[in-house]
Amino acid sequence: MKKSFWTIFMVICITGIAFGAQNGVKKKRPKPFEYGLVIINNNSLKSGLAPAMFDHWVHREKFTCRLCHVDIGFAMKAGATQIKAADNMRGYFCGTCHNGKMKYGNRTVFAACSKDVAKADYNRCKKCHTETIDSRKEDDFEKLAERLPKGRLGNGIDWEKAEELGLIKPVDTLEGVSIKRAGLVIQKDFSLTAKTEGMPEIIFSHKKHTVWNGCELCHPDLFLGVRKGSTKYSMVEIFDGKYCGACHTSVAFPLTDCQRCHTKPPQ
Ligand code: HEC
Ligand code: HEC
Ligand code: HEC
Ligand code: HEC
Ligand code: HEC
Ligand code: HEC
Repeated sequence: MKKSFWTIFMVICITGIAFGAQNGVKKKRPKPFEYGLVIINNNSLKSGLAPAMFDHWVHREKFTCRLCHVDIGFAMKAGATQIKAADNMRGYFCGTCHNGKMKYGNRTVFAACSKDVAKADYNRCKKCHTETIDSRKEDDFEKLAERLPKGRLGNGIDWEKAEELGLIKPVDTLEGVSIKRAGLVIQKDFSLTAKTEGMPEIIFSHKKHTVWNGCELCHPDLFLGVRKGSTKYSMVEIFDGKYCGACHTSVAFPLTDCQRCHTKPPQ
C-alpha cells in the first residue's frame, strides 16, 4: 500500500524535474509575491521596451478569474493572448480597465499603452513594462498578505478562506463588457477517488470553484463534465498542467500542497 503511493510520488517528482529541464526552466520555488506572475513578451523587447509584467495577486484580490478569462478573453497561458499595444489603446485586454478612466476605490486606474513615449508618460509605461519584480507597488503585497488568512504555499495566502470570510470581494462583472447571464444551477460537491490505495479521496467543491471560475473556465475545455468519473485523469497529467493542473500549478494553490486536495495525509 505504502509502496504504490511512493512509487507514484517518485514518478511525479521525476516527471516534474524532467519537464522543468525540458523547458529549460530552473525550478526555483517562487517567492510568495512572485507566484502567479506572468511575463508577457511577444513584442515588447522587439520594440525596445521591457516585457510587460502581470501580477495575479494584484488583480485576483479585486476581480474573479472568470471576468478576465471569459468576458475579457485572456488565454490561460502566458503569451497566448497575443496582446498588442493597439488593442490596449482601443480598450481591449489590459485596456478594458487600464484606460485612464475606470475608478477603483478612490484611484483612477492608469492607462495602458500609447503610441509614443513622451517623457511624462514614461513612468506610467514602467508600471507594466519593467524588469523589476517587487512586492511593494501601490498595492503592497506584504500588507495584503498580513490582512488575509495564511496559506502554506503559493502566495502564502488562503484565497479560498479570504473570499469565504468576505475579506476580499472579487468583482465578477463589468458594465459594457460582461453579458448578463442567467444563474446556473450549481452542482453538488462530490468526491473523486484516487486510483491508488492509501491515497485519500479528493473532495471537489463546485460551489467554491464557481465563485471564482463560473462554469466556462472548466467546461467544456478542461472537463467535458458530462458525468463525473467519465473523464479519467491521473496525477501525472495533472502535473503536466492538464485538468486541475491548468490552474493549480501557476495561480491557484500549487500541486505540492497535496493535502489540500487529498484531504488527509497518505497512510
Ligand atoms: C485582471 C485579469 C485577470 C484575473 C482576475 C485573473 N487572470 Fe489569469 N491571466 C490574466 C492574464 C492577462 C494572463 C496572461 C495571458 C497572456 O499572457 O496571454 C493570465 C494567465 C493565467 C494563467 C497562465 C499562467 C502561466 O504562467 O502560463 C493561468 C493558469 C491563469 N491566468 C489562471 C487564473 C485564475 C485561476 C484566476 C483566478 C484566481 C485568474 N487567472 C485571474 C488575467 C487575469
Ligand atoms: C478587470 C480590470 C483590469 C484588467 C483587465 C487589468 N488590470 Fe491591472 N489593475 C486593475 C486595477 C483596478 C488596478 C489597481 C489600480 C491602480 O493601481 O491604480 C490594477 C493595477 C495594475 C498594476 C499596478 C500594481 C500596483 O499596485 O502598482 C499593474 C502593473 C497592472 N495592473 C498590470 C496589468 C496588465 C499588464 C494587464 C493586462 C495584461 C492588466 N493589468 C489588466 C485592473 C485591471
Ligand atoms: C497596464 C499595463 C501597460 C502599460 C501601463 C503600458 N503597456 Fe504597453 N503593453 C502592455 C502589454 C500587456 C503588452 C503586450 C506585451 C508583449 O506581448 O510584448 C504591451 C505591448 C506594448 C508594445 C509592443 C508593441 C505592440 O504593438 O504590441 C509597445 C510598443 C507598448 N506596449 C508601448 C507602451 C508605452 C509607450 C507605454 C507607456 C506610455 C505602455 N506601453 C504602457 C501593457 C501595458
Ligand atoms: C474548477 C472546474 C469546474 C468548474 C468551475 C465547474 N465545474 Fe462542473 N465539473 C468539474 C469536474 C472536475 C467534474 C467531474 C466530471 C469530469 O471529470 O469531467 C464536473 C462535473 C459537472 C457535471 C456532471 C455532474 C455529475 O454529477 O456527474 C455538471 C452537470 C457540471 N459539472 C456543471 C457545472 C456548472 C453548471 C458549473 C457552473 C455553475 C460548473 N460545472 C463549474 C469541474 C468544474
Ligand atoms: C479554472 C481553474 C481551476 C481548476 C481547473 C481547478 N481549480 Fe481548484 N481552485 C481554483 C481556485 C481559483 C481556487 C481558490 C483557492 C486558490 O486560489 O488557492 C481553488 C480551490 C480549490 C480547493 C480548495 C477549496 C476548498 O474546498 O477549500 C480545492 C480542494 C481544489 N481547488 C481542488 C481542485 C481539484 C481536485 C480540481 C480538479 C478536479 C481543481 N481544483 C480544478 C481554481 C481551479
Ligand atoms: C488540485 C488538487 C490536487 C493536488 C494538490 C494533488 N492531487 Fe493527486 N490527484 C488529484 C486528482 C483529481 C486525482 C485523480 C482522481 C481520480 O481520477 O479519480 C489525483 C490522483 C492522485 C493519485 C492516484 C494515482 C493517479 O495518478 O491517478 C496519487 C498517488 C496522487 N494523486 C498523489 C498526489 C501527491 C503526492 C500530491 C502532492 C505532491 C498530489 N497528489 C496533489 C488531485 C490533486
